[in-house]
Amino acid sequence: MMDMDQLVALCRRRGFLFQSSEIYGGLNGFWDYGPLGVELKRNIREAWWRDMVSAHNELVVPAGAPSAYEMVGLDCTIIMHPQVWKCSGHYDLFHDFLVDCRESKRRYRHDQVQGRWVEAKGRRIFVATEAGGDEGLTDAEHKALKFFDLRAKHADELHWDGPLVSLTTVTDLSKVLGPDAKALGTLTEPREFNLMFETYSGALRDENSKVFLRPETAQGIFVNFKNVLDSTRVRIPFGIAQVGKSFRNEITPRNFTFRSREFEQMEIEFFCHPSTSRAWYQYWRDRRYRWYVELGLAGERLRLRDHEAAELSHYSCGTADIEYAFPFLPPGEFGELEGIAHRGDFDLRSHMEGKLVRQGDGLVVELDAEGKPKYRGSGKDLTYFDDQTKERYVPHVIEPSAGADRAALAFLCEAYREDTAPDEHGVPTARVFMKFHPRLAPVKAAVFPLVKKDGMPEIAREIYAALKPHVNVFYDEKGAVGRRYRRQDEIGTPFCITVDGQTLSDGTVTIRDRDTLKQWRVHKTDCLAELRERIANS
Ligand code: GAP
Repeated sequence: MMDMDQLVALCRRRGFLFQSSEIYGGLNGFWDYGPLGVELKRNIREAWWRDMVSAHNELVVPAGAPSAYEMVGLDCTIIMHPQVWKCSGHYDLFHDFLVDCRESKRRYRHDQVQGRWVEAKGRRIFVATEAGGDEGLTDAEHKALKFFDLRAKHADELHWDGPLVSLTTVTDLSKVLGPDAKALGTLTEPREFNLMFETYSGALRDENSKVFLRPETAQGIFVNFKNVLDSTRVRIPFGIAQVGKSFRNEITPRNFTFRSREFEQMEIEFFCHPSTSRAWYQYWRDRRYRWYVELGLAGERLRLRDHEAAELSHYSCGTADIEYAFPFLPPGEFGELEGIAHRGDFDLRSHMEGKLVRQGDGLVVELDAEGKPKYRGSGKDLTYFDDQTKERYVPHVIEPSAGADRAALAFLCEAYREDTAPDEHGVPTARVFMKFHPRLAPVKAAVFPLVKKDGMPEIAREIYAALKPHVNVFYDEKGAVGRRYRRQDEIGTPFCITVDGQTLSDGTVTIRDRDTLKQWRVHKTDCLAELRERIANS
């Protein structure tokens, strides 16, 4: 099991990730990607765009799909008309519950605090902690000993009642010892907190000029559904894809980039006929899971989990999460990488009719006290007319919604490896390497002259110049070659090309594989073809 601290240190040391505004002490929940991190995330976005959109062949039926389908892209603004968020439900419903601690002045997400009931010296209290698993148990014991003024050797005087449970199960907060408090009953009652960041558009700062930074890219797709239909020749079934920044004022950003306040999403809204929507849901659920497997997240740390009926949103008839066992989570726990949701006709109807609420088995427009729609929809016709069957209907939507930063974090965690490999003197030495899939690796190959003389640097520079316009390569002639290999291993460069004595006589160079350490020779003019083939077949 890798140590998360080692990965965080490597990310900073080698320029994958930095805390935002670090020289001013950092800003909680915001992260910057350094020179290598930006390449990794760009490669993830590009792999997603290519595999889902630009390389998709709409003329053939992909394995597992009910039929052939089209895919197009979109790039819409971060700030949209405020009515978008009122009709979508985000204005009223996109909130978490928070509790404040009157003693420590700290703020917690209600559902993220856990704790245990314990009795000692005739009192029964709930000891709260932000940690989970074994760490949570240890933390709770430590706090309980302190509260009851007991030494560790008297831990058996603590009578625990049940396992760690959520703070949401506790009704009497006067019995709660807050995660950072010394006294009982310092937590306030939970209150709603909307996660959308607000700002103002234009010179006036009043209610009428208030706008929101989008908390998801999806709504931009729904409100452009008719524009895409009218400006292209797409026919149902088809998908619209968008990659872009989203913003959520998370109460407790945590776990490196996992829960950030500014992050990037890669979302598809797939529009289909209601009668085929279940089959399409199944297709996208499996297709998206396979995408992560193909890029190296294979194994027991990745799983596809179907939501229980109780977990589903009021409009959804099926949702699955693709989850990864991030190393910062307690053993057995998984974190969401992507959600695939069957959203029915909820979104398009909301933007036509106004904010919808469930009534019995159906969805109806929510009304205000005067019986008028609480939030009016656009009134625009967002139905689809099939000119072959002559049927008009509101398409159903399947939404695979992924996070680029969570994917980057999962690929970083999965890639981190430690092993033993011979150093430049042949002595077995500890090695750290990042086993990125070659498509995702920030640098695809490094080019080295074995030594800085005998015409080797000149040949290496020629090879570098020939590769550079096509693939991201790195040139290095400083220091022992073994050390140069190690530096590339640590950033996950899959191949190292070395010009040596034999190159001078027969024009061949060695190519070294990062994972197997195997070396083979190719002619110096064949390096590009060799790299392309190896990357494509990985
Ligand atoms: N349109 C649906 C939607 O936005 P979501 O489950 O709230 O669904 C989709 O978000 C994905 O966006 C998540 O699976 C995750 O990868 C990413 N995401 C959500 N909140 C995030 C945050 N605070 N930090 C980083 N990524 C986040």
